[in-house]
Amino acid sequence: MRIWTRIRRYTKLPFRVVFSLMLVSWIGVFLLFNYYSQSSTVVDDVVGTALTKNVDPNLYYTRDIRWLPNSRKQSNRTFKVRKKILIVQRHPASERFKVSHVLCKLLDGYRLSYELTRVDDKPFLDIKDALRPDVTVGKYSLLIFVDIKTYLDLKEKTKNTLNSYSRKFNTGILFFTTNYVGYARDFELNVRKPEKEKSPLFVKINSSSVILRVTKDGGQAERPRVPKGIGTRWMYLSYDPARVPYETVAYVLPGLPLAKKRRKRRNPMDPQFDRVTVLLDSGRKDGVKRVFFAGGFPFFVHTMLFLDSLDFLSTKSLTFSLNRYLQVDMDDVFIGSTGLRLRREDVMDLLSVQSSLAEKIPGFRFNLGYSGKGYKRGSPQEDEGDEAILEYAHRFTWFGHLYDHEQAHRFSLKNLIRSMKRNRKFAEDYGIPLNTSYAVAPHHSGVYPVHEDLYTAWNKVDKITVTSTEEYPHLKPAWLRRGFIYRGIRVLPRQTCGLFTSTNFFKQIKGGRKALDRSIHGGELFETLLRNPVMIIMTHMTNYANDRLAQYTITKLVDYVRKWTNVRLTYAPPTKLAEIYFGLFPQDKTPLWRSPCDDHRHLIIWDSDKTCSKLPSFLLVGPPHGGLELLQSLLRLNHDIVQMNNISSKEAQFFSSENYLKGLDWYMDHFAKPSNPNSISYEPSHSYFTSQAAPQRVNALLKSAKIIFVLENPVMIAYAHYKHLLARHKLSQYKFTDIVTSQTNPELLRMRTSILRPGHYAEHLGRWMKYFNPNQMLIIDLNELVSQPVNVMNQLQEFLAIEHPLDYHKHVRYSKDKSAFCEITPSNTTGNCYRYQKTVPDSLDESTIKYLQRYYAIHNKNLMRINQKIQFKLPKWLQDIG
Ligand SMILES: *[C@@H]1O[C@H](CO)[C@@H](O)[C@H](O)[C@H]1NC(C)=O
Ligand SMILES: *[C@@H]1O[C@H](CO)[C@@H](O)[C@H](O)[C@H]1NC(C)=O
Ligand SMILES: *[C@@H]1O[C@H](CO)[C@@H](O)[C@H](O)[C@H]1NC(C)=O
Ligand SMILES: *[C@@H]1O[C@H](CO)[C@@H](O)[C@H](O)[C@H]1NC(C)=O
Ligand SMILES: *[C@@H]1O[C@H](CO)[C@@H](O)[C@H](O)[C@H]1NC(C)=O
Repeated sequence: MRIWTRIRRYTKLPFRVVFSLMLVSWIGVFLLFNYYSQSSTVVDDVVGTALTKNVDPNLYYTRDIRWLPNSRKQSNRTFKVRKKILIVQRHPASERFKVSHVLCKLLDGYRLSYELTRVDDKPFLDIKDALRPDVTVGKYSLLIFVDIKTYLDLKEKTKNTLNSYSRKFNTGILFFTTNYVGYARDFELNVRKPEKEKSPLFVKINSSSVILRVTKDGGQAERPRVPKGIGTRWMYLSYDPARVPYETVAYVLPGLPLAKKRRKRRNPMDPQFDRVTVLLDSGRKDGVKRVFFAGGFPFFVHTMLFLDSLDFLSTKSLTFSLNRYLQVDMDDVFIGSTGLRLRREDVMDLLSVQSSLAEKIPGFRFNLGYSGKGYKRGSPQEDEGDEAILEYAHRFTWFGHLYDHEQAHRFSLKNLIRSMKRNRKFAEDYGIPLNTSYAVAPHHSGVYPVHEDLYTAWNKVDKITVTSTEEYPHLKPAWLRRGFIYRGIRVLPRQTCGLFTSTNFFKQIKGGRKALDRSIHGGELFETLLRNPVMIIMTHMTNYANDRLAQYTITKLVDYVRKWTNVRLTYAPPTKLAEIYFGLFPQDKTPLWRSPCDDHRHLIIWDSDKTCSKLPSFLLVGPPHGGLELLQSLLRLNHDIVQMNNISSKEAQFFSSENYLKGLDWYMDHFAKPSNPNSISYEPSHSYFTSQAAPQRVNALLKSAKIIFVLENPVMIAYAHYKHLLARHKLSQYKFTDIVTSQTNPELLRMRTSILRPGHYAEHLGRWMKYFNPNQMLIIDLNELVSQPVNVMNQLQEFLAIEHPLDYHKHVRYSKDKSAFCEITPSNTTGNCYRYQKTVPDSLDESTIKYLQRYYAIHNKNLMRINQKIQFKLPKWLQDIG
């Protein structure tokens, strides 16, 4: 109050005025503060968006639907759920958005399949539908509410539906409090913001909680210091254990009492019930299992408890087993400048660290990758180090780089083979055991993007069957790194742990030792190990000298993992690791070829002779027998448009066939490098339209390509396909009508499907629309192409944004004599004519046509819907339906 009096005395103002002034200024400060915090949330939002954009949605292989063998018997029926999580969110306000982002990142990292939805979306109808007595399969194994408020605001009826679903299928619901504050009557649960605490916060886990699986009670974990705006908010939950049968899973210990705190303390409540951050309702009240999360991400304890909750709330475990196979690669042995290399005592230290690790991970050995040429190129002391490491060579496992540590992508097959042979000779001369069938390319080069010669040389010289890379599909984000198999070589994902050739002292690490510790104590490195059942870590020889960062990092990591998790760290040779990895993730076997030009890092490790200008700018896509050839012959008039391959050759079909496994070079070898810089090239294909795999593969390689479809009446397409089958398989004993109307004969049914399916246009287009923007796609009506080729071609050129469009008016004209549009030659006579040979059959009776029109009605209706997204002029056969 002294200030008060002083102000009054100084200004000599009446009490009331001073009071009002102060009030006004407080309001001002309050408003300013509010404004400030609002604008800072806006910034958060931007960060969130930027981070989400990093994630390529096409990468989620986990979207496949897999059936769970798990079930629950109710009377004598079995209920199943699909292995998919439903995440309910409302419009992305910043805080919820941050929570969603954290969630998606975690789920992607753990390859859990999920679907995001809003309250008013179709999934809620599906859930309601699943309550029908005859439905025994639920679509979701678990529900997550990003914001508890979203749930609280639901109508009672909807809440009942969700709870009934949970009871019927024995699946749980997970809630985040996000920025809700107050009493949640539905759950008799209080949510409040933590009071401002100066001292650090410590979280304690209920060590007997039933949900613990990965998580182990490791004592007290300190809340990490997360830069403002990056993490999600922390909240405290409190409940009355006498009223509700909840179980605390994690809570915050009371902070140290502030010495000079004079205010009366609130009733000291037990923090186990008052400062809860993770809470379990095991369903004792109403049969629905629930877990509540009071935010607080990133924080490893919460991350682990989140994973454990997923497993607990779904009937069967969603995440993978507790085994984690750990391999530590020490790259670049013998490579390093003087002053950075190993000395004898570093080698001895390495051996002793290895022994102590082997006590915790039976059989553990460091995996050493060497380049012979660098041997004994250091100081005398360091040369002794080199000798020491060879003296104990048999205590480690080894793999080869190249002899001179060359960048593989710069070398021809001959040179690669020579280098590998020299390196192998070095191993033989110095007693290095080389029997792991594993190798790593120096400088990350040659594995992905693929340098074919490297694979050939590995196959030939070293019988290599396993390697690893950080570059597939991209270095970042790390949680999406994957493996693949190419030419018999199993490529495993490799993780960086912050120890590169240039980090050999604590001070060289960004953020120093503290940052390294953070990464180990539940940070990036720790989480990387959690989400990778097969964990290959990259380190370098120089990380083991001087400050011995690598020894420090690996030891600490292993200890921390053992302290806080029930994960079983395990050791196995690389070939075994590859078996385990592709056993767990068979969907990873087939690589997804991406354009090296879409990633700066990839471009610099790509053979400089190769060029993305060999890739097509647009695709001309079926359906089969639908008049693609007609469009091609018209395109040929514009010499700037180059067809890249021969459509009749069986060879291409890259995106839709096994040819895809032959690799990117194989594909590009089909195309000549365009000589004219203005020209744009395309690939026509009959098989991509209906291919299941093509859209995703095309998108991965040709992100900005345009896709052109030519559509004809599906009835015609069906008949054309029939004729094709006739010619190919000599099926003359079957009539078209018999096949398409067949209901029982299995052989006929098979043919029926193959004839009718190409005409399911909406289904095929829908697959392309999953990967391409509507403005990248053009649909041309074949009949219009036949009747008005000039207009269609001019529009097409505009759509393709061709530099020098050809005015088709001047080159194509209708010829009465030929009753077709024909090319006009320079001498003003007609040249090629453009016709489409309709396969209208005489034998096709009216009733079959009617039957097919009815058959296609639903597909055509869906096609009409697509017209709202990709606008195209409705063909006549479609208008008739409408
Ligand atoms: C249980 O199974 C029997 C025969 O399999 C069936 O007749 C009966 O309707 C079933 N009961 C229920 C409740 O589904
Ligand atoms: C800790 O978990 C156990 C087992 O789930 C439970 O019985 C106990 O009540 C929990 N403790 C608290 C404080 O909720
Ligand atoms: C490699 O050789 C060593 C020693 O000769 C042996 O202990 C090890 O089992 C072999 N490893 C493999 C993968 O064959
Ligand atoms: C395409 O290949 C077929 C058969 O291989 C050949 O007959 C035809 O002339 C080729 N067409 C072009 C444009 O190269
Ligand atoms: C070419 O023929 C068309 C009609 O066939 C005529 O209108 C046009 O003037 C002719 N052009 C030339 C250059 O002879």
